[in-house]
Amino acid sequence: MIKVLFVCLGNICRSPTAEGIFRKEVEDQGLAEHISVDSAGTSDWHIGGPPDRRSQQAANSRGIDLSLLKARQVSAQDFNDFDYVIAMDSSNFEKLRALCPKGTEGRLRMCLAYAPDWGLIDVPDPYYEGNFDGVFDMVGDACKGLLAEIRNTHNL
Ligand code: 4NP
Repeated sequence: MIKVLFVCLGNICRSPTAEGIFRKEVEDQGLAEHISVDSAGTSDWHIGGPPDRRSQQAANSRGIDLSLLKARQVSAQDFNDFDYVIAMDSSNFEKLRALCPKGTEGRLRMCLAYAPDWGLIDVPDPYYEGNFDGVFDMVGDACKGLLAEIRNTHNL
């Protein structure tokens, strides 16, 4: 099983959005028995809580249900458990780099590296800035790019 973990700050907006989109893409491409997905936050602020209502709305309007997801905090162990750890912004990336066990740094990537056409480094934080539909679109493109790379790398 190839395991993918998306990580943002709160695990209630950007990373659950990515989890929902990526899971649907994996299922649509018939790869659910080969690839699994999860999400987490660098903070402990929303542990156990559901995705932000605004993220749920943006996802619902595109046919993706996030209502059953629950926030959790990322841990160093996640770098042993997951093959791909995808940071939504540079701040998440730096925290994850400080957290990861030696030798696992290569598992850490930036989300929008897989959606270069957006010309952005960071997925903007919609919790404060809004633009939930725009975040959905850029994260959706990145999920497609990441899945294409995984298929290519692992001959799936
Ligand atoms: P996320 O967004 O990292 O995309 O889940 C945020 C969610 C909550 C907060 C900040 C960002 N917060 O300050 O509670």
